[in-house]
Amino acid sequence: MKTLNETGVGKAIDRVEGHLKVTGMAKYASEFPVENKVYGQGINSTIAKGEILSIDTSEAENLPGVLKVITYKNAEKLKTFEEEMPPLWPDVIAPVLQTNKVHYYGEYVGFVVAETFEIAQHAARLVKFEYKKDHDAAINFEENKSKAYKPTESSDYSRGNIEQGMSEADVKVEETYTTAMEHHHPMELHAVIASWDNGKLTAYSSQQMIDANVTALANTFQIPKENVRIIAAFVGGGFGSKLNIERHVVMASMASQMVRKPVQATVTRQQMFTNTGFRQFNEQKMRIGAKKDGKLTALSHDTISHTSTTQQYQESCGFVSKMLYNVANNSIKHRLIPMNLQTPFAMRAPGEATGSFALECAMDEMAYKLNMDPIEFRVKNDTQTDLSENKPFSSRLFVECLRIGAEKFGWENRKKEPRTNTNGNWLIGHGVSAASRKAPYQKTSAKVIIELAGGEPTATIKMDATDIGTGSYTIIAQTVSEYLGIRVEQVNVEIGDSEFPKTPGSGGSWGAASYCNGARAACENVISELKNKLNLAETEEVSIGDLLKRNDLTKYEATGTAEPSEEFKKHSVFSFGANFTEVWVDKDTGMWKIKRMVNVGSAGKILNPKTAYGQIIGGLTMGAGMVIAEQSKIEPNFGNFITRTLADYHVPVNLDMANIDVIFLPEDDKIANKMGVKGIGELGITSVAASIANAIFNATGKRMRSLPITPEKLI
Ligand code: MOS
Repeated sequence: MKTLNETGVGKAIDRVEGHLKVTGMAKYASEFPVENKVYGQGINSTIAKGEILSIDTSEAENLPGVLKVITYKNAEKLKTFEEEMPPLWPDVIAPVLQTNKVHYYGEYVGFVVAETFEIAQHAARLVKFEYKKDHDAAINFEENKSKAYKPTESSDYSRGNIEQGMSEADVKVEETYTTAMEHHHPMELHAVIASWDNGKLTAYSSQQMIDANVTALANTFQIPKENVRIIAAFVGGGFGSKLNIERHVVMASMASQMVRKPVQATVTRQQMFTNTGFRQFNEQKMRIGAKKDGKLTALSHDTISHTSTTQQYQESCGFVSKMLYNVANNSIKHRLIPMNLQTPFAMRAPGEATGSFALECAMDEMAYKLNMDPIEFRVKNDTQTDLSENKPFSSRLFVECLRIGAEKFGWENRKKEPRTNTNGNWLIGHGVSAASRKAPYQKTSAKVIIELAGGEPTATIKMDATDIGTGSYTIIAQTVSEYLGIRVEQVNVEIGDSEFPKTPGSGGSWGAASYCNGARAACENVISELKNKLNLAETEEVSIGDLLKRNDLTKYEATGTAEPSEEFKKHSVFSFGANFTEVWVDKDTGMWKIKRMVNVGSAGKILNPKTAYGQIIGGLTMGAGMVIAEQSKIEPNFGNFITRTLADYHVPVNLDMANIDVIFLPEDDKIANKMGVKGIGELGITSVAASIANAIFNATGKRMRSLPITPEKLI
């Protein structure tokens, strides 16, 4: 691959869509100037379990400007689940307002459509519901533990014999770790403008995975996929909460059919605590056994979390524990408790972000018990084979991440003994943790149209990709720039429309590798097709402009598809990383702060160091949030979330984040894909919480096994 310009792959260029965003020109879902649009507002239940006995809509309906009040009584019949407790996934149906049953506090029980947003909001409060409340709602995790069951699509796993491995151990760690419920809260609220025209549904909707989401909508309304179009040109953050079709999209679509006008529905910040996914509470029991020399003999990771009473979602907390270390005896279990809360759903690095907290804290505890350096202990148990899959890793710079991070961080100056590094009233601590995240590249198509109208040639690329703030626009433009040999200014990226060629969307850290390889394939096809027409050898170097001219063309288009190779399938493809944190803890008040962090990643070829850096510091910030303050709390009697706004659901701010060093190790993994790219969106949050908790132990001598670590826990 040859870089023909300064804007190609690997260059730290500014975001190509940055200007549109900062000038307010970028259109998010609710900003499309759809004519005649009216406004919908969801109504939330005020009980956690029971049924609706009666509904009085008269006052709302009599309010001037109200067009329709929809409840289960007059709602369109939608496709409903045929099986009990189906898994929640981006392409799964999202029925709503189909029965009088209430499954959790805040569940949608109605939808008001009005001429203005304000009237809709007001009218929503005028609809009166009478409920028959069941008093046995499952809203307390501890009290409902006996109901824990093995999920249908269980990711339980074992190799060797865990009890045998534990009995061979000289030293054991057996501890339980918990992580709090969290909510995603992207800056852009969930929003949709839905409209029907001749049996066809168009939804301007804030979504991450357009093709899967089209499937979900089509199946919910039982119409062909061709009759559904989703447009998500710009998405103001997702973090997993926009992977699937949430119910406001379905209600707005249904309402649009009833009032025969486009309907806009914006989920309020308060509703984002109950009507979109969230990260569930996890209780993780770790059992680790090791020989005196540090060799692991056993590693088991059992998780209990919760799902709703209608659908299953299971975050694979044990995923990291089955592949990160060289241990013969391994056991992973996941159990779910059905609770009267909405179905939890993927939140940035679902499984790894939470699971690595338990694993990497337990590894730190073991290192202390063994009297071994935590880095040496991890290095001793390194493996170049994924033992859970019996496949070699396509590349694994795990030890290098730890070693280079240690050097950059100044690990050798760390004091091993807790409470021995002080500065006045501050206890200073240093912690380390290791990270890994799957790099699941998927089948992706793109179309490229090149044009020559005097001057330099231009290229337009189309794909149904999304940019959830990650920089998809920019890296796709850079890929086209690289492979067509034109400047990035000459590239026009059109994404976020289901009418464009299919991609897997933005999720699971597969976006960058998938989008860019799809774009690459389309560009390569343009060039080889034009060369073929001239009987030119593939190796012949001709500019794209000359290829058009010599073919007597001013415009040419080609599509391309990239998908995982056989080599990819024979390997385990992961990104790896290491986190180092220094904390200062006030020994009297327990107030603590992150003083500095070093993050090292080996994530394949970095497409744009600037956007990649943004991904990692965003991940580090969310990881720090898990430890500093983030927790969604449930009112113990009614079962509603009492954290209702960003004033009481605390997220880290700049002052919390101190100095951050981000290092990408040079890596170009051609087994992963032709461009050598792995994912980074989720690597950045993985194991951050453990490095902070381990630093807090090093500072204070207190093992904090329950997140968040609020100051009162430290005194
Ligand atoms: Mo991610 S949690 O797949 O957006």
